[in-house]
Amino acid sequence: MKITISVLKADVGSIGGHLKPSLALIEEIRKFIAERARGLLIDYYISSTGDDIAILCTHTRGPGDQKIHQLAWEAFQAGTTVARKSGLYGAGQDLLKDAFSGNVRGLGPAVAEMEIDERESEPFIFFAADKTDPGAYNLPFYLAFADPMYCSGLILSPKMSQGFKFRIIDVSFTEKTKVIELVAPEELYDIAVLLRDTEKYVIESIYSRSTGNQAVAISTQRLHNIAGKYTGKDDPVAIVRVQGEFPATGEVLAPFNIGHYVAGFMRGSHIGPLMPCRLNATISYFDGPPVVTGAAFSMKEGKLTEPADVFDHPYWDTIRTSVAQKASEIRRQGFCGPSMLPISELEYGGVVEKLNQLEKRFTYTD
Ligand code: 13P
Ligand code: 13P
Ligand code: MG
Ligand code: MG
Repeated sequence: MKITISVLKADVGSIGGHLKPSLALIEEIRKFIAERARGLLIDYYISSTGDDIAILCTHTRGPGDQKIHQLAWEAFQAGTTVARKSGLYGAGQDLLKDAFSGNVRGLGPAVAEMEIDERESEPFIFFAADKTDPGAYNLPFYLAFADPMYCSGLILSPKMSQGFKFRIIDVSFTEKTKVIELVAPEELYDIAVLLRDTEKYVIESIYSRSTGNQAVAISTQRLHNIAGKYTGKDDPVAIVRVQGEFPATGEVLAPFNIGHYVAGFMRGSHIGPLMPCRLNATISYFDGPPVVTGAAFSMKEGKLTEPADVFDHPYWDTIRTSVAQKASEIRRQGFCGPSMLPISELEYGGVVEKLNQLEKRFTYTD
């Protein structure tokens, strides 16, 4: 049976700065979706990660469907009304255009979708990250899908021995979708050359080479390209199918124990380690650290089980401790050097304005 899994995610307001949506806001979105789900959705799951709300839904209408996108857009608008009424911070933050125009791509909300031939058992993980951008997934998914040091299935499972195909997008090119397809293991070094630059090259999707089936879909929107100015980081969502021809759940989770440094953190303008957190995690230290949550599901004919919280296990407590230490360590050097993003990536114009002023005061001597 062909099923579409769609995740649409937006920040439409939060409590106490950029920490978390209010219960009333989440409830409004849940109610809105529940009232309109009949005849459109098979199932859905509403959750929050930091200040972002994600609508995960299953249906048979294919990716980019106008009705599904409109439903999410209107749900986020209804949420924005509640956010405004209760004075939440950044109400409507990610709804950058006033009117819906058929598809939320380019309007602000993040989207990850895939249409699949549902397997006998269909396990998948829904990841959501806050205070970072889509390049945050480059390293963990490279390691999970292309490196036998992390994914033992690449050498143990005959179903995975042909490797995976990566579709990588140049997100700095905004006129059209600029995309390249590279295959692992033959083109590993080419994949690495691109994925090292997480602000420019971003994994959009990954496919099994033995079956051609899609394993991964990642939201690749860049809000500051859409808006032309700072509107919040492009907090990314991802859908990852697991087991069988794909890596096992634990192989996909394994690289998240690195707590690798990603762009984002305070004002979307710094570098911080990505902390794997429990579902519905909130935000704290220095508007961070950047967080990622994971909800694993099984599915039958589009009907979802309850989520299994993939980072809710004693193992991840020790990881969180070491990631917190990494966060404190890089923060000790404040604005200086690699702890703050380069000028091209700063989410505020203040530094550029100051530099322009100071430029006039430089003098030249031989
Ligand atoms: P969000 O992108 O999650 O809204 O965060 C914005 C910010 O400025 C945090 O300091
Ligand atoms: P099972 O043998 O329990 O299916 O587990 C296989 C596997 O993928 C474990 O990582
Ligand atoms: Mg926010
Ligand atoms: Mg956010």
